[in-house]
Amino acid sequence: VNQTLPDGSAEAVRAQQLEEWAEVARSWCGFDPENRPITDRLVQRADIRPGDTVVDLACGTGMPALIEAEMVGPTGHVLGLDLVPGMVEEARRQAASRSLSNVEFRVISDEGRLDLSEAFYDAATCKHGLMWMPNPPGAMAELCKALRPGGRVAVSSWAPPERHPLMSIVSELQLRLLGYRPMQPSTPVTFDSEGSLRSLLLEAGYLNVDSETMTIPVTLAASAEEFVEAELAEDTRAISAETAEQLRREAIEHVRAVNGDGSLVLDLAVLLSWGVNPG
Ligand SMILES: C[S@@+](CC[C@H](N)C(=O)[O-])C[C@H]1O[C@@H](n2cnc3c(N)ncnc32)[C@H](O)[C@@H]1O
Repeated sequence: VNQTLPDGSAEAVRAQQLEEWAEVARSWCGFDPENRPITDRLVQRADIRPGDTVVDLACGTGMPALIEAEMVGPTGHVLGLDLVPGMVEEARRQAASRSLSNVEFRVISDEGRLDLSEAFYDAATCKHGLMWMPNPPGAMAELCKALRPGGRVAVSSWAPPERHPLMSIVSELQLRLLGYRPMQPSTPVTFDSEGSLRSLLLEAGYLNVDSETMTIPVTLAASAEEFVEAELAEDTRAISAETAEQLRREAIEHVRAVNGDGSLVLDLAVLLSWGVNPG
């Protein structure tokens, strides 16, 4: 695990996440179709069954908690947890609009202190949540404690940015032409391989730990022009029109060249790991 907690404590990292995610809560893309295969694989790896009690950490606007609630049915129960009140409110709205009464959402303030019933849950999930947390080992230990012996955990993360050439290309151009990267990723933690996710689970005491990398083809935009325009719109406001135009032209060329055939399909790589609480 690469952990860079810049000049700050865990508290400072959480405060920053709170601010950043509050802004995107209403428009969060948890329900986008390209997210669905990840959700489906994660719940499959957690082996969610009818009647299960499940905890979903960093549930955002409700994925995968809402899918899990449908899977566990009326005899099961799902608890979704997130740091950001706006996310939790939206998740509650989503549950109500789906008439799901077996799912509950709660705001948490520290992933290392979840205050969950011990040895109670049949399964735990965390979809694309760990990389935003200052203390992923603490979160995994808390989930382990909450799982009954034999309870299953499954987690996921994006693969590191260098696995996504179309995404990194714009930021490389910005660095070259602007001298800095305006869109600094603000994840405090990155998992550089499925091995690093696996280690996280092993170190937290899980058994039968396994992992995989899945790829999801996503079409980023209708054209290279549209993609670059959307990516650079914000950042080129502060620079001269001439430089901005040069940046755009170069970016469009590069974007067209990434896949060789000019297509804007990006194979997003997702890391997954899962295991069992030995009790
Ligand atoms: C990439 S989103 C994933 C949300 C959801 N699981 C999904 O797949 O749509 C990351 C989520 O992590 C939450 N988050 C960030 N830091 C957190 C922390 N320390 N503890 C719990 N949740 C956190 C954010 O509020 C956000 O909802």
